[in-house]
Amino acid sequence: MSVIEPGGTIGIIGGGQLARMMALEARRMGYRIGVLDPDREGPAAQVADFCIEGEFADRTAAEALAARSDVITIDTEHVPAEVLEWLETMKPVRPAASILRIVQDRCVQRRFLESQGAPQPKYALVLDAKSLREAAAIVGFPCVLKTRQSGYDGKGQVKIDRMEDLDDAWGAIDYRPAILEAFIHFGKEISVLLARDLSGNMRFYPIAENLHRHHVLHTTQAPAPTLSAALWAEAEALGAGIASALGHVGMMAVELFVTQEGGLLVNEIAPRPHNSGHYTFGACATSQFEQHIRAICGLALGAPSLLRPAVMINLFGDLWRDGLPDWHTVLSHPSARLHLYGKQRPLPGRKMGHILILDNENGQSALEIAETIDRVGY
Ligand SMILES: Nc1ncnc2c1ncn2[C@@H]1O[C@H](COP(=O)(O)OP(=O)(O)OP(=O)(O)O)[C@@H](O)[C@H]1O
Ligand SMILES: [Mg+2]
Repeated sequence: MSVIEPGGTIGIIGGGQLARMMALEARRMGYRIGVLDPDREGPAAQVADFCIEGEFADRTAAEALAARSDVITIDTEHVPAEVLEWLETMKPVRPAASILRIVQDRCVQRRFLESQGAPQPKYALVLDAKSLREAAAIVGFPCVLKTRQSGYDGKGQVKIDRMEDLDDAWGAIDYRPAILEAFIHFGKEISVLLARDLSGNMRFYPIAENLHRHHVLHTTQAPAPTLSAALWAEAEALGAGIASALGHVGMMAVELFVTQEGGLLVNEIAPRPHNSGHYTFGACATSQFEQHIRAICGLALGAPSLLRPAVMINLFGDLWRDGLPDWHTVLSHPSARLHLYGKQRPLPGRKMGHILILDNENGQSALEIAETIDRVGY
């Protein structure tokens, strides 16, 4: 079992905000960080020791990263699995290529979940116009059409309310291979955030409740305020079963719907730190980013304990519409912490950063403070 001691080099494929926060935590622990990304000014490249400029599918660039790294990890699951498979012949790759093969295709992921007996929305595969109709007959309306590959932040998915809209919806995702899922009128959305080490030990973070707007995560509250102890345990058991079956090493998030009847359905698996776990960076004894680094380097896992209840609000590019957002108002709340990812262009819908808010010492809850910040529109 290969352990990478502090002082070693971690190579990350993808240079977005997850890689940036991994790099910040890893550097604090004395690791060196290399990033492979097409943008050498991107969020992670700005804080890495070195950046190799290249596309994820560029084998020369990937080999150059591996040559200088002791272990390879990922910022996104949309790294070609064959590139990771090939890197596995050179260096430890965590999570393994075999896991990415499963999660990067929504249909393969759903079949894997089925094989594990995990509860999930009804779904069917869409390859052509005929199978689209058959899928609608199986799944019913409303439903959501999602591309099999490359979806993130709600991109590549369309909600469909009526049979007449089927063709347009498929056109809206460029007639790509897709899955059609039943639209779930869920009571709430939660995520199980866990870490699994090389020996199979696991640590669970407090389950978070997530609020999405337009299919994109907006706010996370931890711990999930109104989850029963029984559902909490059931959700953790589901997450643990999935992580073990995959033989995962590192952080993992399992996004779940809690149905109005009080059941759980798996939405999707992310084998890496996750947006709904950003709250751990400041609100927990060990952040999800440090935890991921510990796991992939073969170190003992850290305590996931919550220091104080927290709310995380994502900051989208839209907030820059009229110039710089008013950070002074945000920061005038002593328990609010600003995280910006160093992205140069604040495009609408683009995740630029987040604010973490903790319950304050005067008994004001993070949620109340978040609402005041939200009201002034920061
Ligand atoms: N079957 C469904 N029923 C109801 N809502 C859904 C369904 N599928 C997706 N959504 C809504 O859209 C959100 C994003 O969906 P999903 O997680 O599949 O997409 P994604 O593009 O992978 O998003 P991300 O990368 O942000 O997690 C969900 O969190 C949920 O709010
Ligand atoms: Mg999701």
